[in-house]
Amino acid sequence: MNHTDIHPKITPIYQTSVFKFEDLDAIQQYFDEPGSRYMYSRNGNPNSDELAQAVNRWEAGAGAVATGSGMAAIFAAIMTYCQAGDHVLCAADIYGGSAALLNLELSRLGITVSYVPFEELYDLKSHVQASTKLLLCETMSNPLLRVVDLRALATECQQHGLKLVVDNTFATPVLTKPLAYGADLVLHSVTKYLAGHSDVTAGAVVARTPQDAARLRQIGTVFGLTLSPMESWLSVRGMKTMRLRVAAHSYNAQQVAEFLEVHPAVEAVYYPGLLAHPQHVLAASQGHGLFSGMLSFRLPDNAAVVNRFMQRSERFPFAPSLAGVDSSCSHPLHTSHRALTDAQRAELGITVGLVRLSVGIEPVEELLADLAHALE
Ligand SMILES: Cc1ncc(COP(=O)(O)O)c(C=O)c1O
Repeated sequence: MNHTDIHPKITPIYQTSVFKFEDLDAIQQYFDEPGSRYMYSRNGNPNSDELAQAVNRWEAGAGAVATGSGMAAIFAAIMTYCQAGDHVLCAADIYGGSAALLNLELSRLGITVSYVPFEELYDLKSHVQASTKLLLCETMSNPLLRVVDLRALATECQQHGLKLVVDNTFATPVLTKPLAYGADLVLHSVTKYLAGHSDVTAGAVVARTPQDAARLRQIGTVFGLTLSPMESWLSVRGMKTMRLRVAAHSYNAQQVAEFLEVHPAVEAVYYPGLLAHPQHVLAASQGHGLFSGMLSFRLPDNAAVVNRFMQRSERFPFAPSLAGVDSSCSHPLHTSHRALTDAQRAELGITVGLVRLSVGIEPVEELLADLAHALE
């Protein structure tokens, strides 16, 4: 049988670093007609293109790039708008890796950062400098699940001529599509809900305009941030069930949050689906009635109490990532938010008693029984 007679339903894994050309005319065609064929997998590969297109479709963008990790996605997004001498605003409630990138690495390249407390996000006057190019925030913040009013923030950014870059990892486009609210770029750690099975490290950035999408692809290629065929393929497969998974994660997380809210061993619960959450109404409308599978809760600030919880729980193993179909727990102080300064952590309330749960899609009564046992 000839190769061209094979019609797989699923895109095969093009596990190749390079593609063949018949002659010089063929390579010229590659350059003259972008998208007509593939040359080198760092520049483009059918699997990474399929993932970029899938994320782009979900986020309703003008184009996207798939990256080797969520960190590569954040880097690509910032490099789309910034160069040496520029300044970035970042929401104070942010993943520790984003803060590390800004504080430790981009500062060496001459890109400075200042952090905006959550309450001041919609009045940026006192934070904006002449060289400020963009504001980076998360739709739902890691780990305290504060929910940003994206429409209000986009309006505020536009007034100051800033680009709005949104990390939509916790919310996913099933809940919220930030570009529709006026964001310029939206990015993901695809490692999390998009891929969804804790077996891939990947990222993606989606642009609102074709110009920014072209810039992103150039940055991805030239900095070598793009994603491998196998990881792209796994991510595409995971994304096919994202809508169902996120609904199931959200349902389970709501039950877990309500259980913890009234548990005597628990001092506080941070979950936007709870009526008592300060942004509950906003979260309900911006998330179309879903609140995601992530929540944090507070035990007494005593490492022995936290250790006991971790040792006794079987369904929430301490695994410092999130958003897999299996539940897990993490400890922001020791893992994701280690890179924040002491002052940043104290300001946010990231203390030893703060535990973050990634609620999976297991039968929820099994999760509740496990938590009851672990908190006894
Ligand atoms: C909100 C958020 N953004 C970005 C990242 C970084 O993603 P990755 O680990 O895929 O590089 C993470 C990782 O935990 C995250 O939680």
